[in-house]
Formats: sequence, C-alpha cells, structure tokens
Amino acid sequence: MDSRLSGFYRLSVSERQKALKSQTGHSFPSLFEFGSLGEKAADSMIENAVGSVSVPVGIATHFVVNGKSLLVPLAVEETSVVAACSRGAKLSNGFTTESDPSVMIGQVLLVNIVDSRQALLNLNAARSELIELARTNSIIEKLGGGTKDIQFHPLHAREGVWIEVHVLVDCIDAMGANTVNTVCERIAPRLEELSGGVARMRIISNLCIHRKVRARTTWSKESLGGAGVVDAFLQGIEFAQLSPFRATTHNKGIMNGMDALALATGNDWRAVEASAHAFAAFGHSYAPLTRFHKTPEGNLAGEIELALAVGTVGGATKINGAAQDSLKLLGISSARELAEVMACVGLAQNFSAVHALVSEGIQKGHMRLHAKNIAFNAGASAEEMDEVARLMISKDSINESFARQTIAELRALDKGIKNKPVGK
Ligand code: MEV
Repeated sequence: MDSRLSGFYRLSVSERQKALKSQTGHSFPSLFEFGSLGEKAADSMIENAVGSVSVPVGIATHFVVNGKSLLVPLAVEETSVVAACSRGAKLSNGFTTESDPSVMIGQVLLVNIVDSRQALLNLNAARSELIELARTNSIIEKLGGGTKDIQFHPLHAREGVWIEVHVLVDCIDAMGANTVNTVCERIAPRLEELSGGVARMRIISNLCIHRKVRARTTWSKESLGGAGVVDAFLQGIEFAQLSPFRATTHNKGIMNGMDALALATGNDWRAVEASAHAFAAFGHSYAPLTRFHKTPEGNLAGEIELALAVGTVGGATKINGAAQDSLKLLGISSARELAEVMACVGLAQNFSAVHALVSEGIQKGHMRLHAKNIAFNAGASAEEMDEVARLMISKDSINESFARQTIAELRALDKGIKNKPVGK
C-alpha cells in the first residue's frame, strides 16, 4: 500500500473510492455513503472526500427557554445523552438566558520591533484609521457588525517586546472565523508600517471572551428526590470545584449536550470545545462551567456561563441540509439565540449527570438505555430490539450473551407459533 496516493485530490469521488479499493483490496460500503449530505456537498466541504460517517440525531424534549417551548436536535453517538438532557429540562422550571453580542477577537502578532514604546504610541494614535481600514464591505458590516475596536498589548518575549494586536469584530450571526481572519490579514501590512515590525501571525482566537452566554434555572427539591439529595448534589458540585480531575469530567458532561447541538446545526464543535475549556481556566485554575446553590426555599438553582461562538449562517451550516433542518426544527434565527439554547442544553445535561451520580449512580440508567445497543450488537432485528432490551432489563442481565440467548428463544418461540397448524 502506498500512502502517498499521488494525485488523489484531483480524482472524482468515485475515482477516489476505486483507488482506495484497489490500494487496500477492500470495499467500504458503509463508509462510501453520503446519506442526506450528498456527494457533491461533501466533496465541496473537505478535501479528498470519499464518504461520510453517520451519527444519529435525537430530539431533546421539554425545553422551555425564556418562555418558549423548543425541540432540540442532538447529534451524538453516546447512549443516554438525549435522555439525560430531556430529563434535566423536564425537571427544571424553565430556563432564562442572556448573551453578549457576537464579538470575536482576531490576533495579529507583531515581532522584530526596534522601538516598542514608539510602536505602541503610533498604533494607538492610528486606532480609528485601522478600524476604518478593517472594514471589508461585508454583509456583516451592512447588518451593523464588523470591526468595533483594536487593542494593543505588549508581550515580553525572550528576544524583546512583541505586540499582540486584538481586533474586535462583531460577527452577528456567523461563527466568524473567516470574517476575522480576513480582517487580520487586511490590516497586517499597515500594522507593520506603524510598528516598524513584522506581522508574524494573523488569526482568530478561539477564546471568545467577549462572546459570553449565560443560562439559569431552578429545580424543586421534590424533583430531585428531597432536601437530602439537594445537599448531596451540592457536594458533587463542590467536588468539581476542588478537584480538576472531577471538573474535567463535570465539564465533559456539559459538552456532551453542547457539542451534540453544535454538530446537529453544522457548527465547528472543536471551536466550541476549545473555547469552553479555555474559559474554564481563564484567570483561575481549571473550574466547573456551572454553579449551583440552594435557594431560601431549599430548592436547587443552577447557572452556566461560558464563552461560546456558534453561527446560524456561513461555514458548513449552509451547505449541510441536515444542519439547516436542525435550525428550522429549533425555530431560531440568530446565532445568539442558538448559543443561549446551547447553554441551556449544557446546564440540563450537567444537572442530570450530577443528579444521577449522587443518587443511583450513572451505570444503572446508562445500561438500561444501552440495552438496545447491546441487543443490536447481539444480532437483534429492528422488530426484536425493544423486546430483547426489555427482557434484559427485567432480568437485570444487560449483556451480550444474555441478549443472544434471548434472541434465540424469541425466534424459536416465533417459529413455533408460525408452525402451529391453523385452528389449533
Ligand atoms: C459521561 O459521558 C458524562 C459524565 O461522566 C458526566 C459527569 O460525570 O458529570 C456522566
């Protein structure tokens, strides 16, 4: 096998598939599929496209955000995420949210500066000129967005003083990477002239500290199972505040739902992840993204805050029909609204995980939901799956060998019934 695959990128999709078959001696019928995405869209989205991987989309129910009922599509491969998310929303008293404008930071790094003091003076004096120069006549600017400010921060590098330029761009309904990178590249030559240095890097920062989102809700103590469970829940939260090992898993649970909504809506979930975890450690040691407290009535109040950049226009959202349908299903029209719903999803997900952890434990519920998965792996047909899962749960034997035995018994029974002479 020759991994160079010379000229591979010039081939059509079907030619690439043929080349892979002949190189490896295998055919890949499941991988060489494009589903609703379609071959043309896939080929336009990435390089060397040969197929796609499907992830199920489930609907998280019971969400009421700022008084509006919402159905939330989640694209995820992990059992129990959709159920846990729905449960967190169902038990809550509805979510309220707020968000900052969609301001992203673009960074330009200026190096090889001879006189950094003079450079900073020149740059600060030219701020309005630079903001004007940053304007690119884009749709975003027509909608009131675009570059809002430019800031200069000295960095004390080994070889001398560098200048880190922050370009603040309101990306309105776009995630913003393309817009921001374009702006950075556009103003870099003028930054070089003004500073006498060299623009070494020109790129968006995924730590979108000016684009924060917040969501809040409460859960009655009765919905948790009593006052004792509220106290246990708060101990679970304090554990995450005290231990970065727990905080990481705590935040992973939050991202289970948020990433799933990002994926369903065609958003860059790596950017969402990067920003969330960087925010969790911004200005302090790594911490949980949610906060909880007991209300005077003894109920549980929860809040999430994080820096979050998602879009409803641009990027893959437009090309991907399923992403468009997800946005339609959500019934939202702005990036800020999407970010706010995403924060609610994270909060609901976190509530359910911690609630399960401090009460019956995570495995029992997880395995119950995982039973269908095990039944499928054991060879159950679509018609048999629910029954096999039900029997495994009722016998408290959720494992593949029991599933196989159950399938065999069901089939034998079915055959027996079918072979019975009519009328007897
Ligand atoms: C599993 O995907 C997520 C959890 O580990 C989250 C948590 O522990 O809070 C259950």
